[in-house]
Amino acid sequence: MSGTMQAETTLVSLGDLFGLEAIRGLRYGVPPRPTQQDIEDLVPTPDPAYVFTLDEVRRLILWEGGEVGRNLMIGGPTGCGKSSLIEQFCARLNRPLYRFACHGGMLFTDLTGQMTIRADGSTGFVYGPLPRAMREGAVLLLDEGNMAPPKVVGALNTVLDDGPLFLPETGELIQPSPRFRVVATGNAISHGMDAVHYRGTERQNIAYLLRYLQFQTSYKTATEEAAILHRAVPGLPGKVVGLIAEFAHEVRSGFLEGSSPVPVPTRVTRKWAAVLHTRAKALRNDPVNEMLFGLKFVLTDGLQADHAKAIEGTLSRMIDKLTLTDEDFKTGVGIPATIPAQEDPTMELVVLLNPNRGGKNEIRVWVLGSCDRTGKTFTASAGITPFTPFVPKEDISRQDAMIALQQKLNQRGYVHCLDVKLGPSVGIEAARRATDAFTKAVAGAKPVAVSSPAVRDIVSALCKASGTQVELVMN
Ligand SMILES: Nc1ncnc2c1ncn2[C@@H]1O[C@H](COP(=O)(O)OP(=O)(O)OP(=O)(O)O)[C@@H](O)[C@H]1O
Ligand SMILES: [Mg+2]
Repeated sequence: MSGTMQAETTLVSLGDLFGLEAIRGLRYGVPPRPTQQDIEDLVPTPDPAYVFTLDEVRRLILWEGGEVGRNLMIGGPTGCGKSSLIEQFCARLNRPLYRFACHGGMLFTDLTGQMTIRADGSTGFVYGPLPRAMREGAVLLLDEGNMAPPKVVGALNTVLDDGPLFLPETGELIQPSPRFRVVATGNAISHGMDAVHYRGTERQNIAYLLRYLQFQTSYKTATEEAAILHRAVPGLPGKVVGLIAEFAHEVRSGFLEGSSPVPVPTRVTRKWAAVLHTRAKALRNDPVNEMLFGLKFVLTDGLQADHAKAIEGTLSRMIDKLTLTDEDFKTGVGIPATIPAQEDPTMELVVLLNPNRGGKNEIRVWVLGSCDRTGKTFTASAGITPFTPFVPKEDISRQDAMIALQQKLNQRGYVHCLDVKLGPSVGIEAARRATDAFTKAVAGAKPVAVSSPAVRDIVSALCKASGTQVELVMN
């Protein structure tokens, strides 16, 4: 076993790392991937459909930075995304992760390691995840930490105080690397508050709990859930994604209040969306029964009959009148219906709203073609706008290119520069921002002058998506 060298970090935009526009301007030092193969293998694989929230990133960054505390405890109801949050956070930051599943019968030596007989008959000490993570500067995730017997987690206290670990079997005193972090997750982890739902969980002792930074999480909002589903299963009609998200939200709220017997966590909604997507034709023809079939397949057929009936009843009430047309299958959720979906996921479409250039009380909408993610080229799409392509001369970052572009556009009187990403990473968040800005821009500005039929279609879609009534005039 060997330690890792502290490598130079690269400053990366937090907004880019976690897909959050609000922190695009903040930079964070990300280390390179570990060079040692067995440690590199511990860096989780990024899930492109993963949605982070600002609150999560803020807390995780503080914890990862290590200055305010190196141990974090994440509580929250089942399937709200506790373990995957850490996994995906580590994936983005190239952090090796040891994920240890705690259970009632575990011993402290499951964490520290034990003497083992090797295949060749010799004996040797096999290090457990705790000393390895301490030496390698990795993250140790104590998953389902509430399942662990308190005497086992109590033995961790010295390590949680940044102290060393003594291994009696080898006589070694393991010193923690400055990058070593501990995170524990659990359903009833702090104060046993949700323990009624989770048999087999333990109430941890307060001396142990207070050694951790605390983070109580819960299920994602319906909007966030829809963004996850859209990213995970692009191409599923927006209506269907919206209904799944709303339904999940309703059942989860009932679960948290005690009126619903089980929740519908994201691991279930993602599977459900995937089932519906693979059965798109059947969904188009009989959406109500297909949605019910999907729910049974991914969840309710495994529940006791009265629980299944209650949950299926809730869904039936919500989707009672659902019908789908071919049109619904043409676009993904969140993209205003007629913005053409682009094949190349690295291309982006920039929608510009200019309330000043169309004359008094008018707003003109321009669609500025696409730009690649490096920001080196912005190409105007043919036929949509006469805007001159903007191509920065120097080799600059995408963010700097966007800033330069915005400055240039501001000089020309464009007030909103919306960056609507297309391809697998489109979220309804981006579209919501686009529609919000659109609503703001058109407030009081009537009629809207549009420069081409393509732009008219986009503006109509934006109007529809934002519930804004405006008169469109072609000129
Ligand atoms: N923010 C998210 N974005 C995308 N997918 C998510 C998100 N949160 C959860 N998921 C999906 O839900 C699955 C289950 O989440 P996870 O295992 O993290 O929940 P948990 O809170 O640890 O559950 P449990 O309490 O049962 O251990 C993940 O593997 C992932 O597919
Ligand atoms: Mg978990």
